[in-house]
Amino acid sequence: MRISLRVNGVEAEADCWEGESLLYALREKLGYPGSKNACEQGECGSCSVLLDGTLVCSCLVLAVQADGHDVTTVEGLADGEQLHPVQEAFVETGAVQCGFCTPGLVVAAADLLERTPDPTDDEIREALSGNLCRCTGYEKIFDAVRLAARDGWG
Ligand code: FES
Ligand code: FES
Repeated sequence: MRISLRVNGVEAEADCWEGESLLYALREKLGYPGSKNACEQGECGSCSVLLDGTLVCSCLVLAVQADGHDVTTVEGLADGEQLHPVQEAFVETGAVQCGFCTPGLVVAAADLLERTPDPTDDEIREALSGNLCRCTGYEKIFDAVRLAARDGWG
């Protein structure tokens, strides 16, 4: 089936079989490898994207379900050469180690701050609870979200 969607504001088309995930289509057919494939079971959040503005695990969404919809991936957050404030904060606080979890965490954190510009620690914990990181121990990730919020989100 041929699907048409908008990825990061750009019209895109791909031929997909009925059981193909949005994650696979993004990475292998549409040229957006930023979303990572770690578990393919909705457990780790490394594949997080926004589908019509709602945070989803793209490994759990069929590509055909995205037909006619808007998808935002981590590649769509920066403004040209200018990193997104959450990306800046991740770099500044050292919240990136192997980096495998980072795209999903950045998308989830950006989504949180869009809705809640000054989150409490509990709100950060809740918002990022679907994103697993094996490296950082999470404290630097929390620091990054706090920094992005403090540095005048929006
Ligand atoms: S790859 Fe989608 S949740 Fe892990
Ligand atoms: S930085 Fe390695 S899994 Fe998070």
